[in-house]
Amino acid sequence: MRLILLGAPGAGKGTQANYIKEKFNIPQISTGDMLRAAVKAGTPLGLAAKKIMDAGALVSDDIIINLVKERIKESDCANGFLFDGFPRTIPQAQAMKDAGVPIDYVVEVDVPDSEIIKRMSGRRVHPASGRTYHVVFNPPKVEGKDDVTGEELVQRPDDVEDTVVKRLNVYHEQTKPLVDYYSAWAKSGEAKAPKIVHIPGVGSVENIRDQIFRALGA
Ligand code: AP5
Ligand code: ZN
Repeated sequence: MRLILLGAPGAGKGTQANYIKEKFNIPQISTGDMLRAAVKAGTPLGLAAKKIMDAGALVSDDIIINLVKERIKESDCANGFLFDGFPRTIPQAQAMKDAGVPIDYVVEVDVPDSEIIKRMSGRRVHPASGRTYHVVFNPPKVEGKDDVTGEELVQRPDDVEDTVVKRLNVYHEQTKPLVDYYSAWAKSGEAKAPKIVHIPGVGSVENIRDQIFRALGA
């Protein structure tokens, strides 16, 4: 299974990716998590990416495309993969198409902007694993601690309201057009075209998970 999870910042991509990767036994490839790991490690990529991410803008297509091309060469991707937060521009999507990277499904999780703001302010993450919680909607078993390791949860620096608004604008301008891009490809009848499914992303995490599983025939 090779799939793309498409959705606004805070749509629940990371939350749902956790279920999908287990169900299909495929790695989650989150470009956001990869960049945050580079920031933490203090690599040249991380140093360059931090300013861009904190401003709510997008890292350059060339950097991201190379990062993903290298990642999907690894052996754990032989059975498939789940892209989370990638592609998020037409050139990124086109680069995958040009490289002949097969995609079975594009899952678009749709959440209104007003809901996004509420979600981001309460988000807490476990940086080492990428596991995501919400203080009200999806709380950890012990306040402030990761369910699996018991380690501290933190807030992402780009989750302050001004930056969230910028990220939403960037999403509408640069990423949302991918829905039309993949819909047009799906309608072309080309054998390699992915199937595109739209999932309303408001409701319980479990209900959304079940809708995604059903759409994927799982
Ligand atoms: P990235 O890490 O990809 O962030 P994003 O796309 O903005 O998405 P988020 O991780 O914020 O949200 P999510 O959809 O995963 O939601 P989550 O499950 O956490 O990118 C960060 C930055 O890196 C970018 O801004 C850019 O600078 C750079 N970057 C990354 N990829 C790039 C690329 N391809 N090209 C260029 N630059 C790139 O859920 C959010 C909250 O809501 C959580 O608290 C969760 O518990 C809660 N929640 C989830 N589901 C529900 C529900 N059903 N009901 C209520 N609450 C819910
Ligand atoms: Zn995420």
